[in-house]
Amino acid sequence: MVSREAIHTLLYPNSIAVIGASRNPKKIGFQIVYNLVKDGYRGRIYPINPYANEIMGFKAYPSIKEVPDEIDLAVISIPADKVEKAVKDSIDKGVKALVVIASGFSEVGNIDMERAIVDIVDSAGVALLGPNVVGVLNTTHSMNLSFCPSLPYKGRITMITQSGALAIGLVGWTWANRIGLSKMVSIGNMAQIGFEEMLEYLEGDDDTDTILLYMESVKDGRRFVDVARRVSMYKPIVAIKAGRSVRGAKAAMSHTGSLAGDVKLYDVAFREAGVIPAYGLEDGFDKALALHLQRPMKGGNIVVVTNGGGAGVLASDFAEENGLPLKDLPSDLMNSVRRVISPFGSPRNPIDLTGNAYKDDYIEVLEKVLTHPWVDGVVAIYVHAAITDPLEVADGIVSVANKYPDKPLTMAMIGGREVAIANAWLRDNGIPVYPSPRRAISAMSALYQYGKFLNRQLPRK
Ligand code: ACO
Repeated sequence: MVSREAIHTLLYPNSIAVIGASRNPKKIGFQIVYNLVKDGYRGRIYPINPYANEIMGFKAYPSIKEVPDEIDLAVISIPADKVEKAVKDSIDKGVKALVVIASGFSEVGNIDMERAIVDIVDSAGVALLGPNVVGVLNTTHSMNLSFCPSLPYKGRITMITQSGALAIGLVGWTWANRIGLSKMVSIGNMAQIGFEEMLEYLEGDDDTDTILLYMESVKDGRRFVDVARRVSMYKPIVAIKAGRSVRGAKAAMSHTGSLAGDVKLYDVAFREAGVIPAYGLEDGFDKALALHLQRPMKGGNIVVVTNGGGAGVLASDFAEENGLPLKDLPSDLMNSVRRVISPFGSPRNPIDLTGNAYKDDYIEVLEKVLTHPWVDGVVAIYVHAAITDPLEVADGIVSVANKYPDKPLTMAMIGGREVAIANAWLRDNGIPVYPSPRRAISAMSALYQYGKFLNRQLPRK
């Protein structure tokens, strides 16, 4: 079994050899060296190419064995039939971790070729990521060891993905949506390191507080549940399980050689392990963001506060569909809300502040709601009206939410350009905000499910 220390070297190497570093900017081997430099990697870089003397100003070596210094990690970007030799050379050189970018292994039926590499690395105690991967991106180590266009937006969520192409696309998404990642790790065919090993490592990773998985299959279901249940006690895990349909399962087989398995079994396993299921990329990031920014719900009572009646109705529908039906407010809370809202509004749940609500109306009502012991979570909704500046409302929401961090709050802000600016600001200031009530409710349901899992783990009195 691969050691924690070897995986640590994979994620935080101090020196990297790029086997297949190319002179051609259109090749992956060039882009890896380029990205390391461009995105600020501070360790040593050694291009390996028997046909080049120098690549991007770095001296190139014909073989990794000819590099005079110690090397922590080798990334291999040469065709599959040459990989085994490069793996052996790297191990002779003493690397502790390997990333095999090349495709052409078990995903296309070359199982023996993949097995041979695993046998070599396992007997040497070396960590192996891949084959068939995009690489490793670590924002806290300023390391873009991949052919993704840039590092993701920096933060504390770590994403482990079986799809490399998704990693490539999602890097830009994290910037556009202000979702901060600590690491993005593409695990491809999972010949040695899979979800189980990564979760075990992340349990003790100080730079990660929330984990997001894009998963087609796991290597060992029982072990996954055991590890995930343990990790979930400290760090929430959200999983996007792909290959849920018959056709999708077939596509997973040709993509990463994955047996996508029975979806119902995965659903049961996730429930047992406290893993929060997500349905698609948007839902996965929405839930991971909420779990990263907010505390889990302690019970099942949510209150919706809105300035738009229709948005409140939609939120009520979605809440019920998500297993979090809105309930009548306790009469003392309803009466105190009634005293401060417009006579045209509604003090019931959803609380409707009406379209002429200002920042102070939100603050006043949220104060009452967040401090009431019956309330376990709040979904605030703002529909942009010309009489208010969304940034002002956003500022009010942050000020009141920060006073009561134990009560989770998600938000929907509906509108155009001004709202997009306020949303970005809100996310940077700790509020999981979404462009629709459905997504804000779905995010709150993740906080509810995670809270329920944590409650189940408490010793019975
Ligand atoms: N050691 C070191 N360098 C070597 C060696 C060797 N043994 N042999 C050749 N090289 C050099 C080459 O000369 C070349 O350099 P140059 O361009 O300066 O001449 C460089 O290394 C690269 O070798 P190529 O043979 O040109 O290989 P190429 O870059 O075309 O392809 C690759 C290699 C990218 C690994 C390809 O085989 C492959 O598997 N592509 C798919 C990668 C992929 O998609 N991975 C999964 C991502 S997941 C997803 O969904 C996207």
